[in-house]
Amino acid sequence: MDKIVISGGTPLHGEIKISGAKNATLPILAATLLSPEPYTLSNVPNVADIATMQKLLRAMGAQIQGQDGIYSIGIPQITSCEAPYEWVKTMRASILVLGPLLARHKEAHVSLPGGCAIGTRPINLHLAALSQMGAEITVEHGMIHATTKQLKGATIFFEPSTVTGTENLMMAATLAEGTTILKNAAQEPEITDLAQFLNQCGANIVGAGTDQITIHGVPALSGASYTIMPDRIETGTFMVAAAITQGELTLSDCRPENLTCVINTLKKMGSDITTGKKWIRIKGGPIRPFDITTLPYPEFPTDMQAQAMALMTLSSGLSKITETIFESRFNHAAELRRMGAQIYIEHNYAIVQGVKSLSGAKVLASDLRASSSLVLAGLVANGETEISRVYHLDRGYEKIEEKLSRVGANIKRVKAV
Ligand code: EPZ
Repeated sequence: MDKIVISGGTPLHGEIKISGAKNATLPILAATLLSPEPYTLSNVPNVADIATMQKLLRAMGAQIQGQDGIYSIGIPQITSCEAPYEWVKTMRASILVLGPLLARHKEAHVSLPGGCAIGTRPINLHLAALSQMGAEITVEHGMIHATTKQLKGATIFFEPSTVTGTENLMMAATLAEGTTILKNAAQEPEITDLAQFLNQCGANIVGAGTDQITIHGVPALSGASYTIMPDRIETGTFMVAAAITQGELTLSDCRPENLTCVINTLKKMGSDITTGKKWIRIKGGPIRPFDITTLPYPEFPTDMQAQAMALMTLSSGLSKITETIFESRFNHAAELRRMGAQIYIEHNYAIVQGVKSLSGAKVLASDLRASSSLVLAGLVANGETEISRVYHLDRGYEKIEEKLSRVGANIKRVKAV
């Protein structure tokens, strides 16, 4: 397994081009199951989860060609409607094929995703909502078996709001008979991106980005050419890289409007930030303590919690994190402590006492965003930090060591022998 080795202490300076959003690409790839017509997707990030989803779609009959972020996709016929455990255990987002398969193919057999490092990650809301739309669903031997004669519109209330649940049901409803209303829908920008893609394919979706989405079913969808939105979490991660190293970075090809809460938080923690239509410039300053609570969009994103904790470890005081989305999303704390951080965890609360400096150490990545927080800490720690199990990082960050070394970081990947 590859490792990443960082010698800390260099303030970062320069420009980083942001890649396409992993969490927008995954549902949009799943949505190509909805029509036999061809699609072209651009700005697709080159990360492991996208490769996994493409493999899963190929196993279902998809013809996918492309490189450098531009792919042509066609699924003239669905040759398999099964997503086996081997795929789902490596990527929970495989559950996103359930709605489209039911809508177009009227049958799906998808492995029940297990938990993961950050929580139990149930999908009960997905299944209950699809049943409301007329799907017959049984779960046996860890597999979800779902069939329907025809999905029918329904009014669905999500409690709590769920990102992939909203996406699954929005896709399923595009070909349902009648109108579906999703109440307490998730409002993340990735959902708006999916809705824009689906409407370009001839769907009739109104209200994406709000807590109520109305989908008027249509008989069939066409193909489309679409450019994926930029990754707001990659953007936020590199913003913290500038803040924690007291450097200055310009992030291009991004969408500042998707990061309002993160921008405001980092300003309060001492960074100087200016924004344009598609760029963010951030200059790190003395790090001030700050309290954050993770909540659904547009509040502070749980996917930025680990990165914010890394920054807090070097603040001039006491910061508090309240993690309200996932029940065990502090795996990075123990590794940051190995680097000298002072962090106290109680249930879903973390108290971070700022210290003068961190020291490089051998640390273990545990999940995607936890691993990014270890990279951020390594960029500023005295000495060398060696991060193992970086396959977690590769799931959601495209060429992170190349992007960081181009702005001055002393970072390299050590290939497993
Ligand atoms: C999506 O996961 C993202 N993944 C996650 O990003 C992100 O952390 C999360 O949304 C929250 O923003 C993708 O988009 C592929 P949820 P998802 O359903 O959809 C509960 C990353 O780092 N819930 O919005 O699985 C659940 O337990 C990943 O890129 C149910 O109870 O999250 C949680 O407490 C990590 N029953 C809350 O809802 C359900 O059926 C929100 O989860 C579904 C969810």
